[in-house]
Amino acid sequence: HEACSLVPEAWRFDCYPERGVVVTRELCEARNCCFIPTSNSSFSVTRPSGKNGIPWCFYPPDFPSYSLVSIKDTSLGQKGTLVRKVKTYYPADILILEVEIRYETDTRLRVRITDPSNPRFEVPISVPTATKKAERPEYTVELSKEPFGLIVKRRSTGALVNTTVAPLFYADQFLQFSTSLPSQFIYGLGEHRSTFLHDVQWNTLTLWARDVPPMVWTSLHLEHFSHTDIIFLLTVYVILQPAPALTWRTVGGILDFYIFLGPDPGSVIEQYVEVIGFPSMPIYWALGYHLCRWGYNTSDNTWEVVKTMRNSGIPQDVQWNDIDYMDRFMDFTFDSTNFATLPELVKDLHAHDQRYVMILDPGISSTQPEGSYWPYDEGLKRGVFIKDAEGKTLIGKVWPGLTAYPDFSDDVTHEWWYDNLQRFHQKVPFDGLWIDMNEPSNFLDGSTNGCPSNSIENPPYTPGVLGGLLRGKTVCATAQQKQSIHYNMHSLYGLMEAKASASALKRIVAKRPFVISRSTFPSQGMYSGHWLGDNRSQWKDLYTSIAGMLTFNLLGIPLVGADICGFGGETQEELCVRWTQLGAFYPFTRNHNSIDKKPQDPTAFSPLARTAMQQALLLRYSLFPVLYTLFHHAHVHGHTVARPLMFEYPNDARTYGIDKQFLWGKSLLVTPVLEPGADYVDGYFPEGLWYDYYTGDSVRSKGEEVRCHAPLDKINLHLREGSVIPTQTPNLTLWVSSGQPLHLVSSLSDNGSATGDLFWDDGESIDTYETNQYAYIIFMVSQKTMKSQVLHNNVEASYITVESASFYGVKEKPSRVLVNSQDAQFTYRTNQVLSVAALGLNLSQNFTISWM
Ligand code: GLC
Repeated sequence: HEACSLVPEAWRFDCYPERGVVVTRELCEARNCCFIPTSNSSFSVTRPSGKNGIPWCFYPPDFPSYSLVSIKDTSLGQKGTLVRKVKTYYPADILILEVEIRYETDTRLRVRITDPSNPRFEVPISVPTATKKAERPEYTVELSKEPFGLIVKRRSTGALVNTTVAPLFYADQFLQFSTSLPSQFIYGLGEHRSTFLHDVQWNTLTLWARDVPPMVWTSLHLEHFSHTDIIFLLTVYVILQPAPALTWRTVGGILDFYIFLGPDPGSVIEQYVEVIGFPSMPIYWALGYHLCRWGYNTSDNTWEVVKTMRNSGIPQDVQWNDIDYMDRFMDFTFDSTNFATLPELVKDLHAHDQRYVMILDPGISSTQPEGSYWPYDEGLKRGVFIKDAEGKTLIGKVWPGLTAYPDFSDDVTHEWWYDNLQRFHQKVPFDGLWIDMNEPSNFLDGSTNGCPSNSIENPPYTPGVLGGLLRGKTVCATAQQKQSIHYNMHSLYGLMEAKASASALKRIVAKRPFVISRSTFPSQGMYSGHWLGDNRSQWKDLYTSIAGMLTFNLLGIPLVGADICGFGGETQEELCVRWTQLGAFYPFTRNHNSIDKKPQDPTAFSPLARTAMQQALLLRYSLFPVLYTLFHHAHVHGHTVARPLMFEYPNDARTYGIDKQFLWGKSLLVTPVLEPGADYVDGYFPEGLWYDYYTGDSVRSKGEEVRCHAPLDKINLHLREGSVIPTQTPNLTLWVSSGQPLHLVSSLSDNGSATGDLFWDDGESIDTYETNQYAYIIFMVSQKTMKSQVLHNNVEASYITVESASFYGVKEKPSRVLVNSQDAQFTYRTNQVLSVAALGLNLSQNFTISWM
């Protein structure tokens, strides 16, 4: 092949992705591919995921693909027929395909490639259906006929997607297409331990839910796809290469993908979230501090920690228990000896306006004497468990020993799950649920009886899942669920369990359900939040948690955080302080620890460390109105809560790789210390005026690194020019602090303007926004006047007063300050901070504060 040598290395598309195979010239040429070894020799032994290097065996430019043989217009776009004449080297090519192009909105294009003769599995999540073709699409679509390819261009700037770069595969168990990319800046793509900005140097990411601690190169607890131009709905493999180009590879289903035009990153995510579903509005206490560990061992020990926290004046909204509360690790039971006082503990929490959350694992013990364990007996009766290929209950192994797995793809199971929760709630009136091990995790591979040997268990091509087997540490791929075989349903398990859990909780507590799940899938944000799994008590993990948190904000699951102070291994005091400071800015903030490790709740440390942690948490509580308002915007518009800097500064390329700092919304810049022994931190400040949140001192940046003082008791927080943020006097629970008067902080831009807003409701009723039970107020400062404007009113706003206000960047000392035209007392500091107190303004009424 002369043509082979003309293919630039960066444009080689891998023709031999099978793992563990030493690719020889013979093997490669048997596939009619080009074989050109490169000096990088590591390629032949492929890793499950990760940096494989430049392929030695790649498709020649004329490798046979599909041809577009006919095309017609439809009400939404176009429909065409694709034909493949030459079979590929995978079994069961589908030789005739239908391609449908739907111009769904001006910024959203959908492409579906299906088998017109046989229905294939499709991901069962509901997406919006377009009814008419977009009128002024910001994209154009060109179709290449021979070979078939799709070329999508942004009208203003040119090529986004071009799938003619490599052949299309559509065999029963091997579907693949590639595209060139308009840039090297790739984000999202599910839960992996990596930097926020993905490396395109031959980087492979597997998307297959798997119980595994966060390590580089493996897929974690979920399956997700998203990046700034494309979202795709069922795949297990993404390959990034430096061309830049990307390959999607999947072992089943159909090809069904969207292209979102944005144009800026924030609008891409809004458009994505509109398709997968907006995240739910969290109950107010979800945003408080959560304390957990594995191995409290008794309810009294758990209670002791809660009391010590209260006595130390450290905020805590929620106490959790891990599996040690259960009787022999069985769901819906509690240990009547060691956790005898659990019901009282929960009552005591409630009496202190605190909440209780406990863990549930999906595996249901299958070995209890008949009549002694209702969940299993009843589950069998109702037929709720996943079946093996022969139709018998599939048995695996988790904490309680042998277990059956509820099939959450069946509504009958949802009802049974609800009944169990309802019965348990009568004994222990829990407030929220922690659903773990829902990849689903199995200590065995497949089941107690192994798995059948067939092409479902051993597909012609097995994606790079850890261990190289689909059944590895989960149930058999051939297991039967209501909606399909587990092969298709695997990564949806956590989503469906979360859905069942949220709807049961809604019925039981009649408030917004609080659920935190380990495994997730697109649209999960509608039902649960997420924690980033079993991290370690190491500085490295402190750092990578930021990328994890930001990625989940891109995926429409903004309620996310990592185990504060680290899960595995022993933490150290300094690390735990720094982690609590960063954790105070995770949208979901929970300290969690593994079994047999020293306590790491704030009260376990020296007075100095304890005070630093207390300060960080009080700071978070004081910012509750800001955080709550951001969640409202996530819920209604699909905005991110914890936000990468590049979202706000898409024209500043220096922000593209930043994952040591982040923003809350558009205006609060968080610059944590991520290293031991530091008393300063260098952070990047995009061009403009920034204010130290605590003092109001200004920092004017040209778009540069700024060194910030960062003693152990301080996390750097800066306010972007032009913002107004509502804060509150913090207290030990959000129930108390959220009733406190507001303090407004305004950071004036050079021209003296600023804006901000506040969403306020009762914090817990379902659908307050949808049923108009909320207040929404905007604050605007310009020409030395702040105006509040109540855009939507509700009685909740009348319970709150605005007590004080600070204005950062008031250039000259005022002679008078008027509040609703009345003279008011004020102070002015030389760092240009004007403060007014004792305002007593009712939030539900418009007001003005002006100075002259
Ligand atoms: C899993 C969870 C972890 C939990 C442990 C015991 O490893 O990820 O958070 O503490 O199981 O339930």
